[in-house]
Amino acid sequence: MKRLVVALFLALAAPAFAAQLPPGYAIATAHPLATAAGEEILQAGGNAFDAAVAITAALAVTEPAGSGLGGGGFYLLHRADDGYKIFVDARERAPGAATADMYLDAQGEVVKDDLRAGPKAAGIPGIPAALDHLTKQYGRMSLARSLAPAISYAADGFEVDANLARAIQFRQADLARQPAAAAVFLPGGSALAEGQQLVQPDLARTLERIATHGKDAFYGGDYARDLVDGVQAAGGIWSRADLRAYSIRERPPVILEFQGFQIVTAPPPSSGGLVMGEVFNMLAGYDWAKLNPVNRKHLLVEAWRRAYRDRALYMGDSDYVEVPSGRLLRKTHAEQLRADLSLKRATPSASLGAGPAPAGEGRNTTHFSVLDAEGNRVAATLSINYPLGAAFMVPRTGVLLNNEMDDFVAKPGEANLYGLVGGQANAIAPGKRMLSSMSPSFVSNGDRLALVGTPGGSRIITMVMLGILDFMDGADARAMVSTPRFHHQYLPDQIFYEAGALSPYERQVLEKRGHSLKESARGYGNMQVVIWDWKYQILDAASDPRGVGQAVVGGLARESGGD
Ligand code: DON
Repeated sequence: MKRLVVALFLALAAPAFAAQLPPGYAIATAHPLATAAGEEILQAGGNAFDAAVAITAALAVTEPAGSGLGGGGFYLLHRADDGYKIFVDARERAPGAATADMYLDAQGEVVKDDLRAGPKAAGIPGIPAALDHLTKQYGRMSLARSLAPAISYAADGFEVDANLARAIQFRQADLARQPAAAAVFLPGGSALAEGQQLVQPDLARTLERIATHGKDAFYGGDYARDLVDGVQAAGGIWSRADLRAYSIRERPPVILEFQGFQIVTAPPPSSGGLVMGEVFNMLAGYDWAKLNPVNRKHLLVEAWRRAYRDRALYMGDSDYVEVPSGRLLRKTHAEQLRADLSLKRATPSASLGAGPAPAGEGRNTTHFSVLDAEGNRVAATLSINYPLGAAFMVPRTGVLLNNEMDDFVAKPGEANLYGLVGGQANAIAPGKRMLSSMSPSFVSNGDRLALVGTPGGSRIITMVMLGILDFMDGADARAMVSTPRFHHQYLPDQIFYEAGALSPYERQVLEKRGHSLKESARGYGNMQVVIWDWKYQILDAASDPRGVGQAVVGGLARESGGD
């Protein structure tokens, strides 16, 4: 009854355009087979939530470098019939035996190897629970139907693409240390190359179990015992109680406004919504529309610098620590941050407060966006953190584990794989979720809506913001995913940029203002965008050209990544 009343209220309160149906469906994912799986489910009568289940499972098989059953992720949902928006948090949790100093040696130094490879690096996975939850709470197909495409990809095999081949090569030494992972990715001792077939019969069997029995097939019974035995035999600290205790959290999304647009995005344990909110509030103190391109870039960098500092100071799992979200998003906080912000010169990060070092880059982790023909939406960013996660596969399961524990602060002030620093708010504690940057988002005004997100570690937030700002300037999906990117994250105190993101003139201006610049060796990110233009009733979708993904609109292939 309560839900009916809320639904009625929302239906009455919602603007007229929300009642419109899209002229079809649109999907963008990081792998053509995942896009095909989503499309198959939509065409078979499933909704966007069923398609999200099919895509998640298909990506677990076809893009194992980015996400999988051994990882976690966030799903931002919008249900068309009542306008309900919710953030499904399937982030990994620290095992019960985890402690704040578990990665420090006797000298108090971080044992980086334990955070990078092997089961000690792995949090308790959330993706199997997410598949079950999305299907039961929001879907209309059975789990067995939605997982069918992924099961056949795993059992029959598929062709390794350039991205996956690169990830396998990159992790070859770690994979070689573990027979189960080596058997899959280094068959006969050599790394799978582009064009070769990857067949994963163990993973197919795990998916079949979940298809038949739901999440209990993973978190309970003999299977959970096998997972725990496999992890403990290799030095990990998971227990059966940890698996049994894993649960999804549903959280209200963060809702922001800028330039007449509404941005619906990620709450803690992601830092995305709060960082973006602080930045938009800082930008709102200037006449953004009138700023020239180089001044916009300078201002963004200065705002990112300050908001990423707050990330390090205050952000973590709000189930465990008090994250001062209300204060951080207040306009008065932005005013304080703007007090020493100059449009004429860079503020050295060191003058704002201390901290260290270098950043990672990449297109691991994964994002997808789906809009069905009824107007249901999903923007989801999923991860096993590093390319191929912990490079550890639990024997006989086909499940590659995450190394998401690195997203915690192993030692206050010490940089993680992405150069991010932090303190107490993101310290390790049993059952706690590690702070993330993953930021699946919806952006809309009265005319248009975009579903957007990307992988890229600490750079996710700045990439999503650049995409959103482009959308506000009228960019289409292709332009949003293609735009050259730049980034600043407080520490290291440097602007990273892709070739072409800053013109020679802009680089000189920024340097004269005191910024230090560093060009990225390669492109970064793998953004997947769906746009529904309400005014003209047009659907548009695009997959980042830096990756190998594919976007479809209404069944018609429109864009594909790669060359
Ligand atoms: O949750 C996070 O913020 C990170 N684990 C995401 C890692 C990532 O995007 C890797 N991709 N390059």
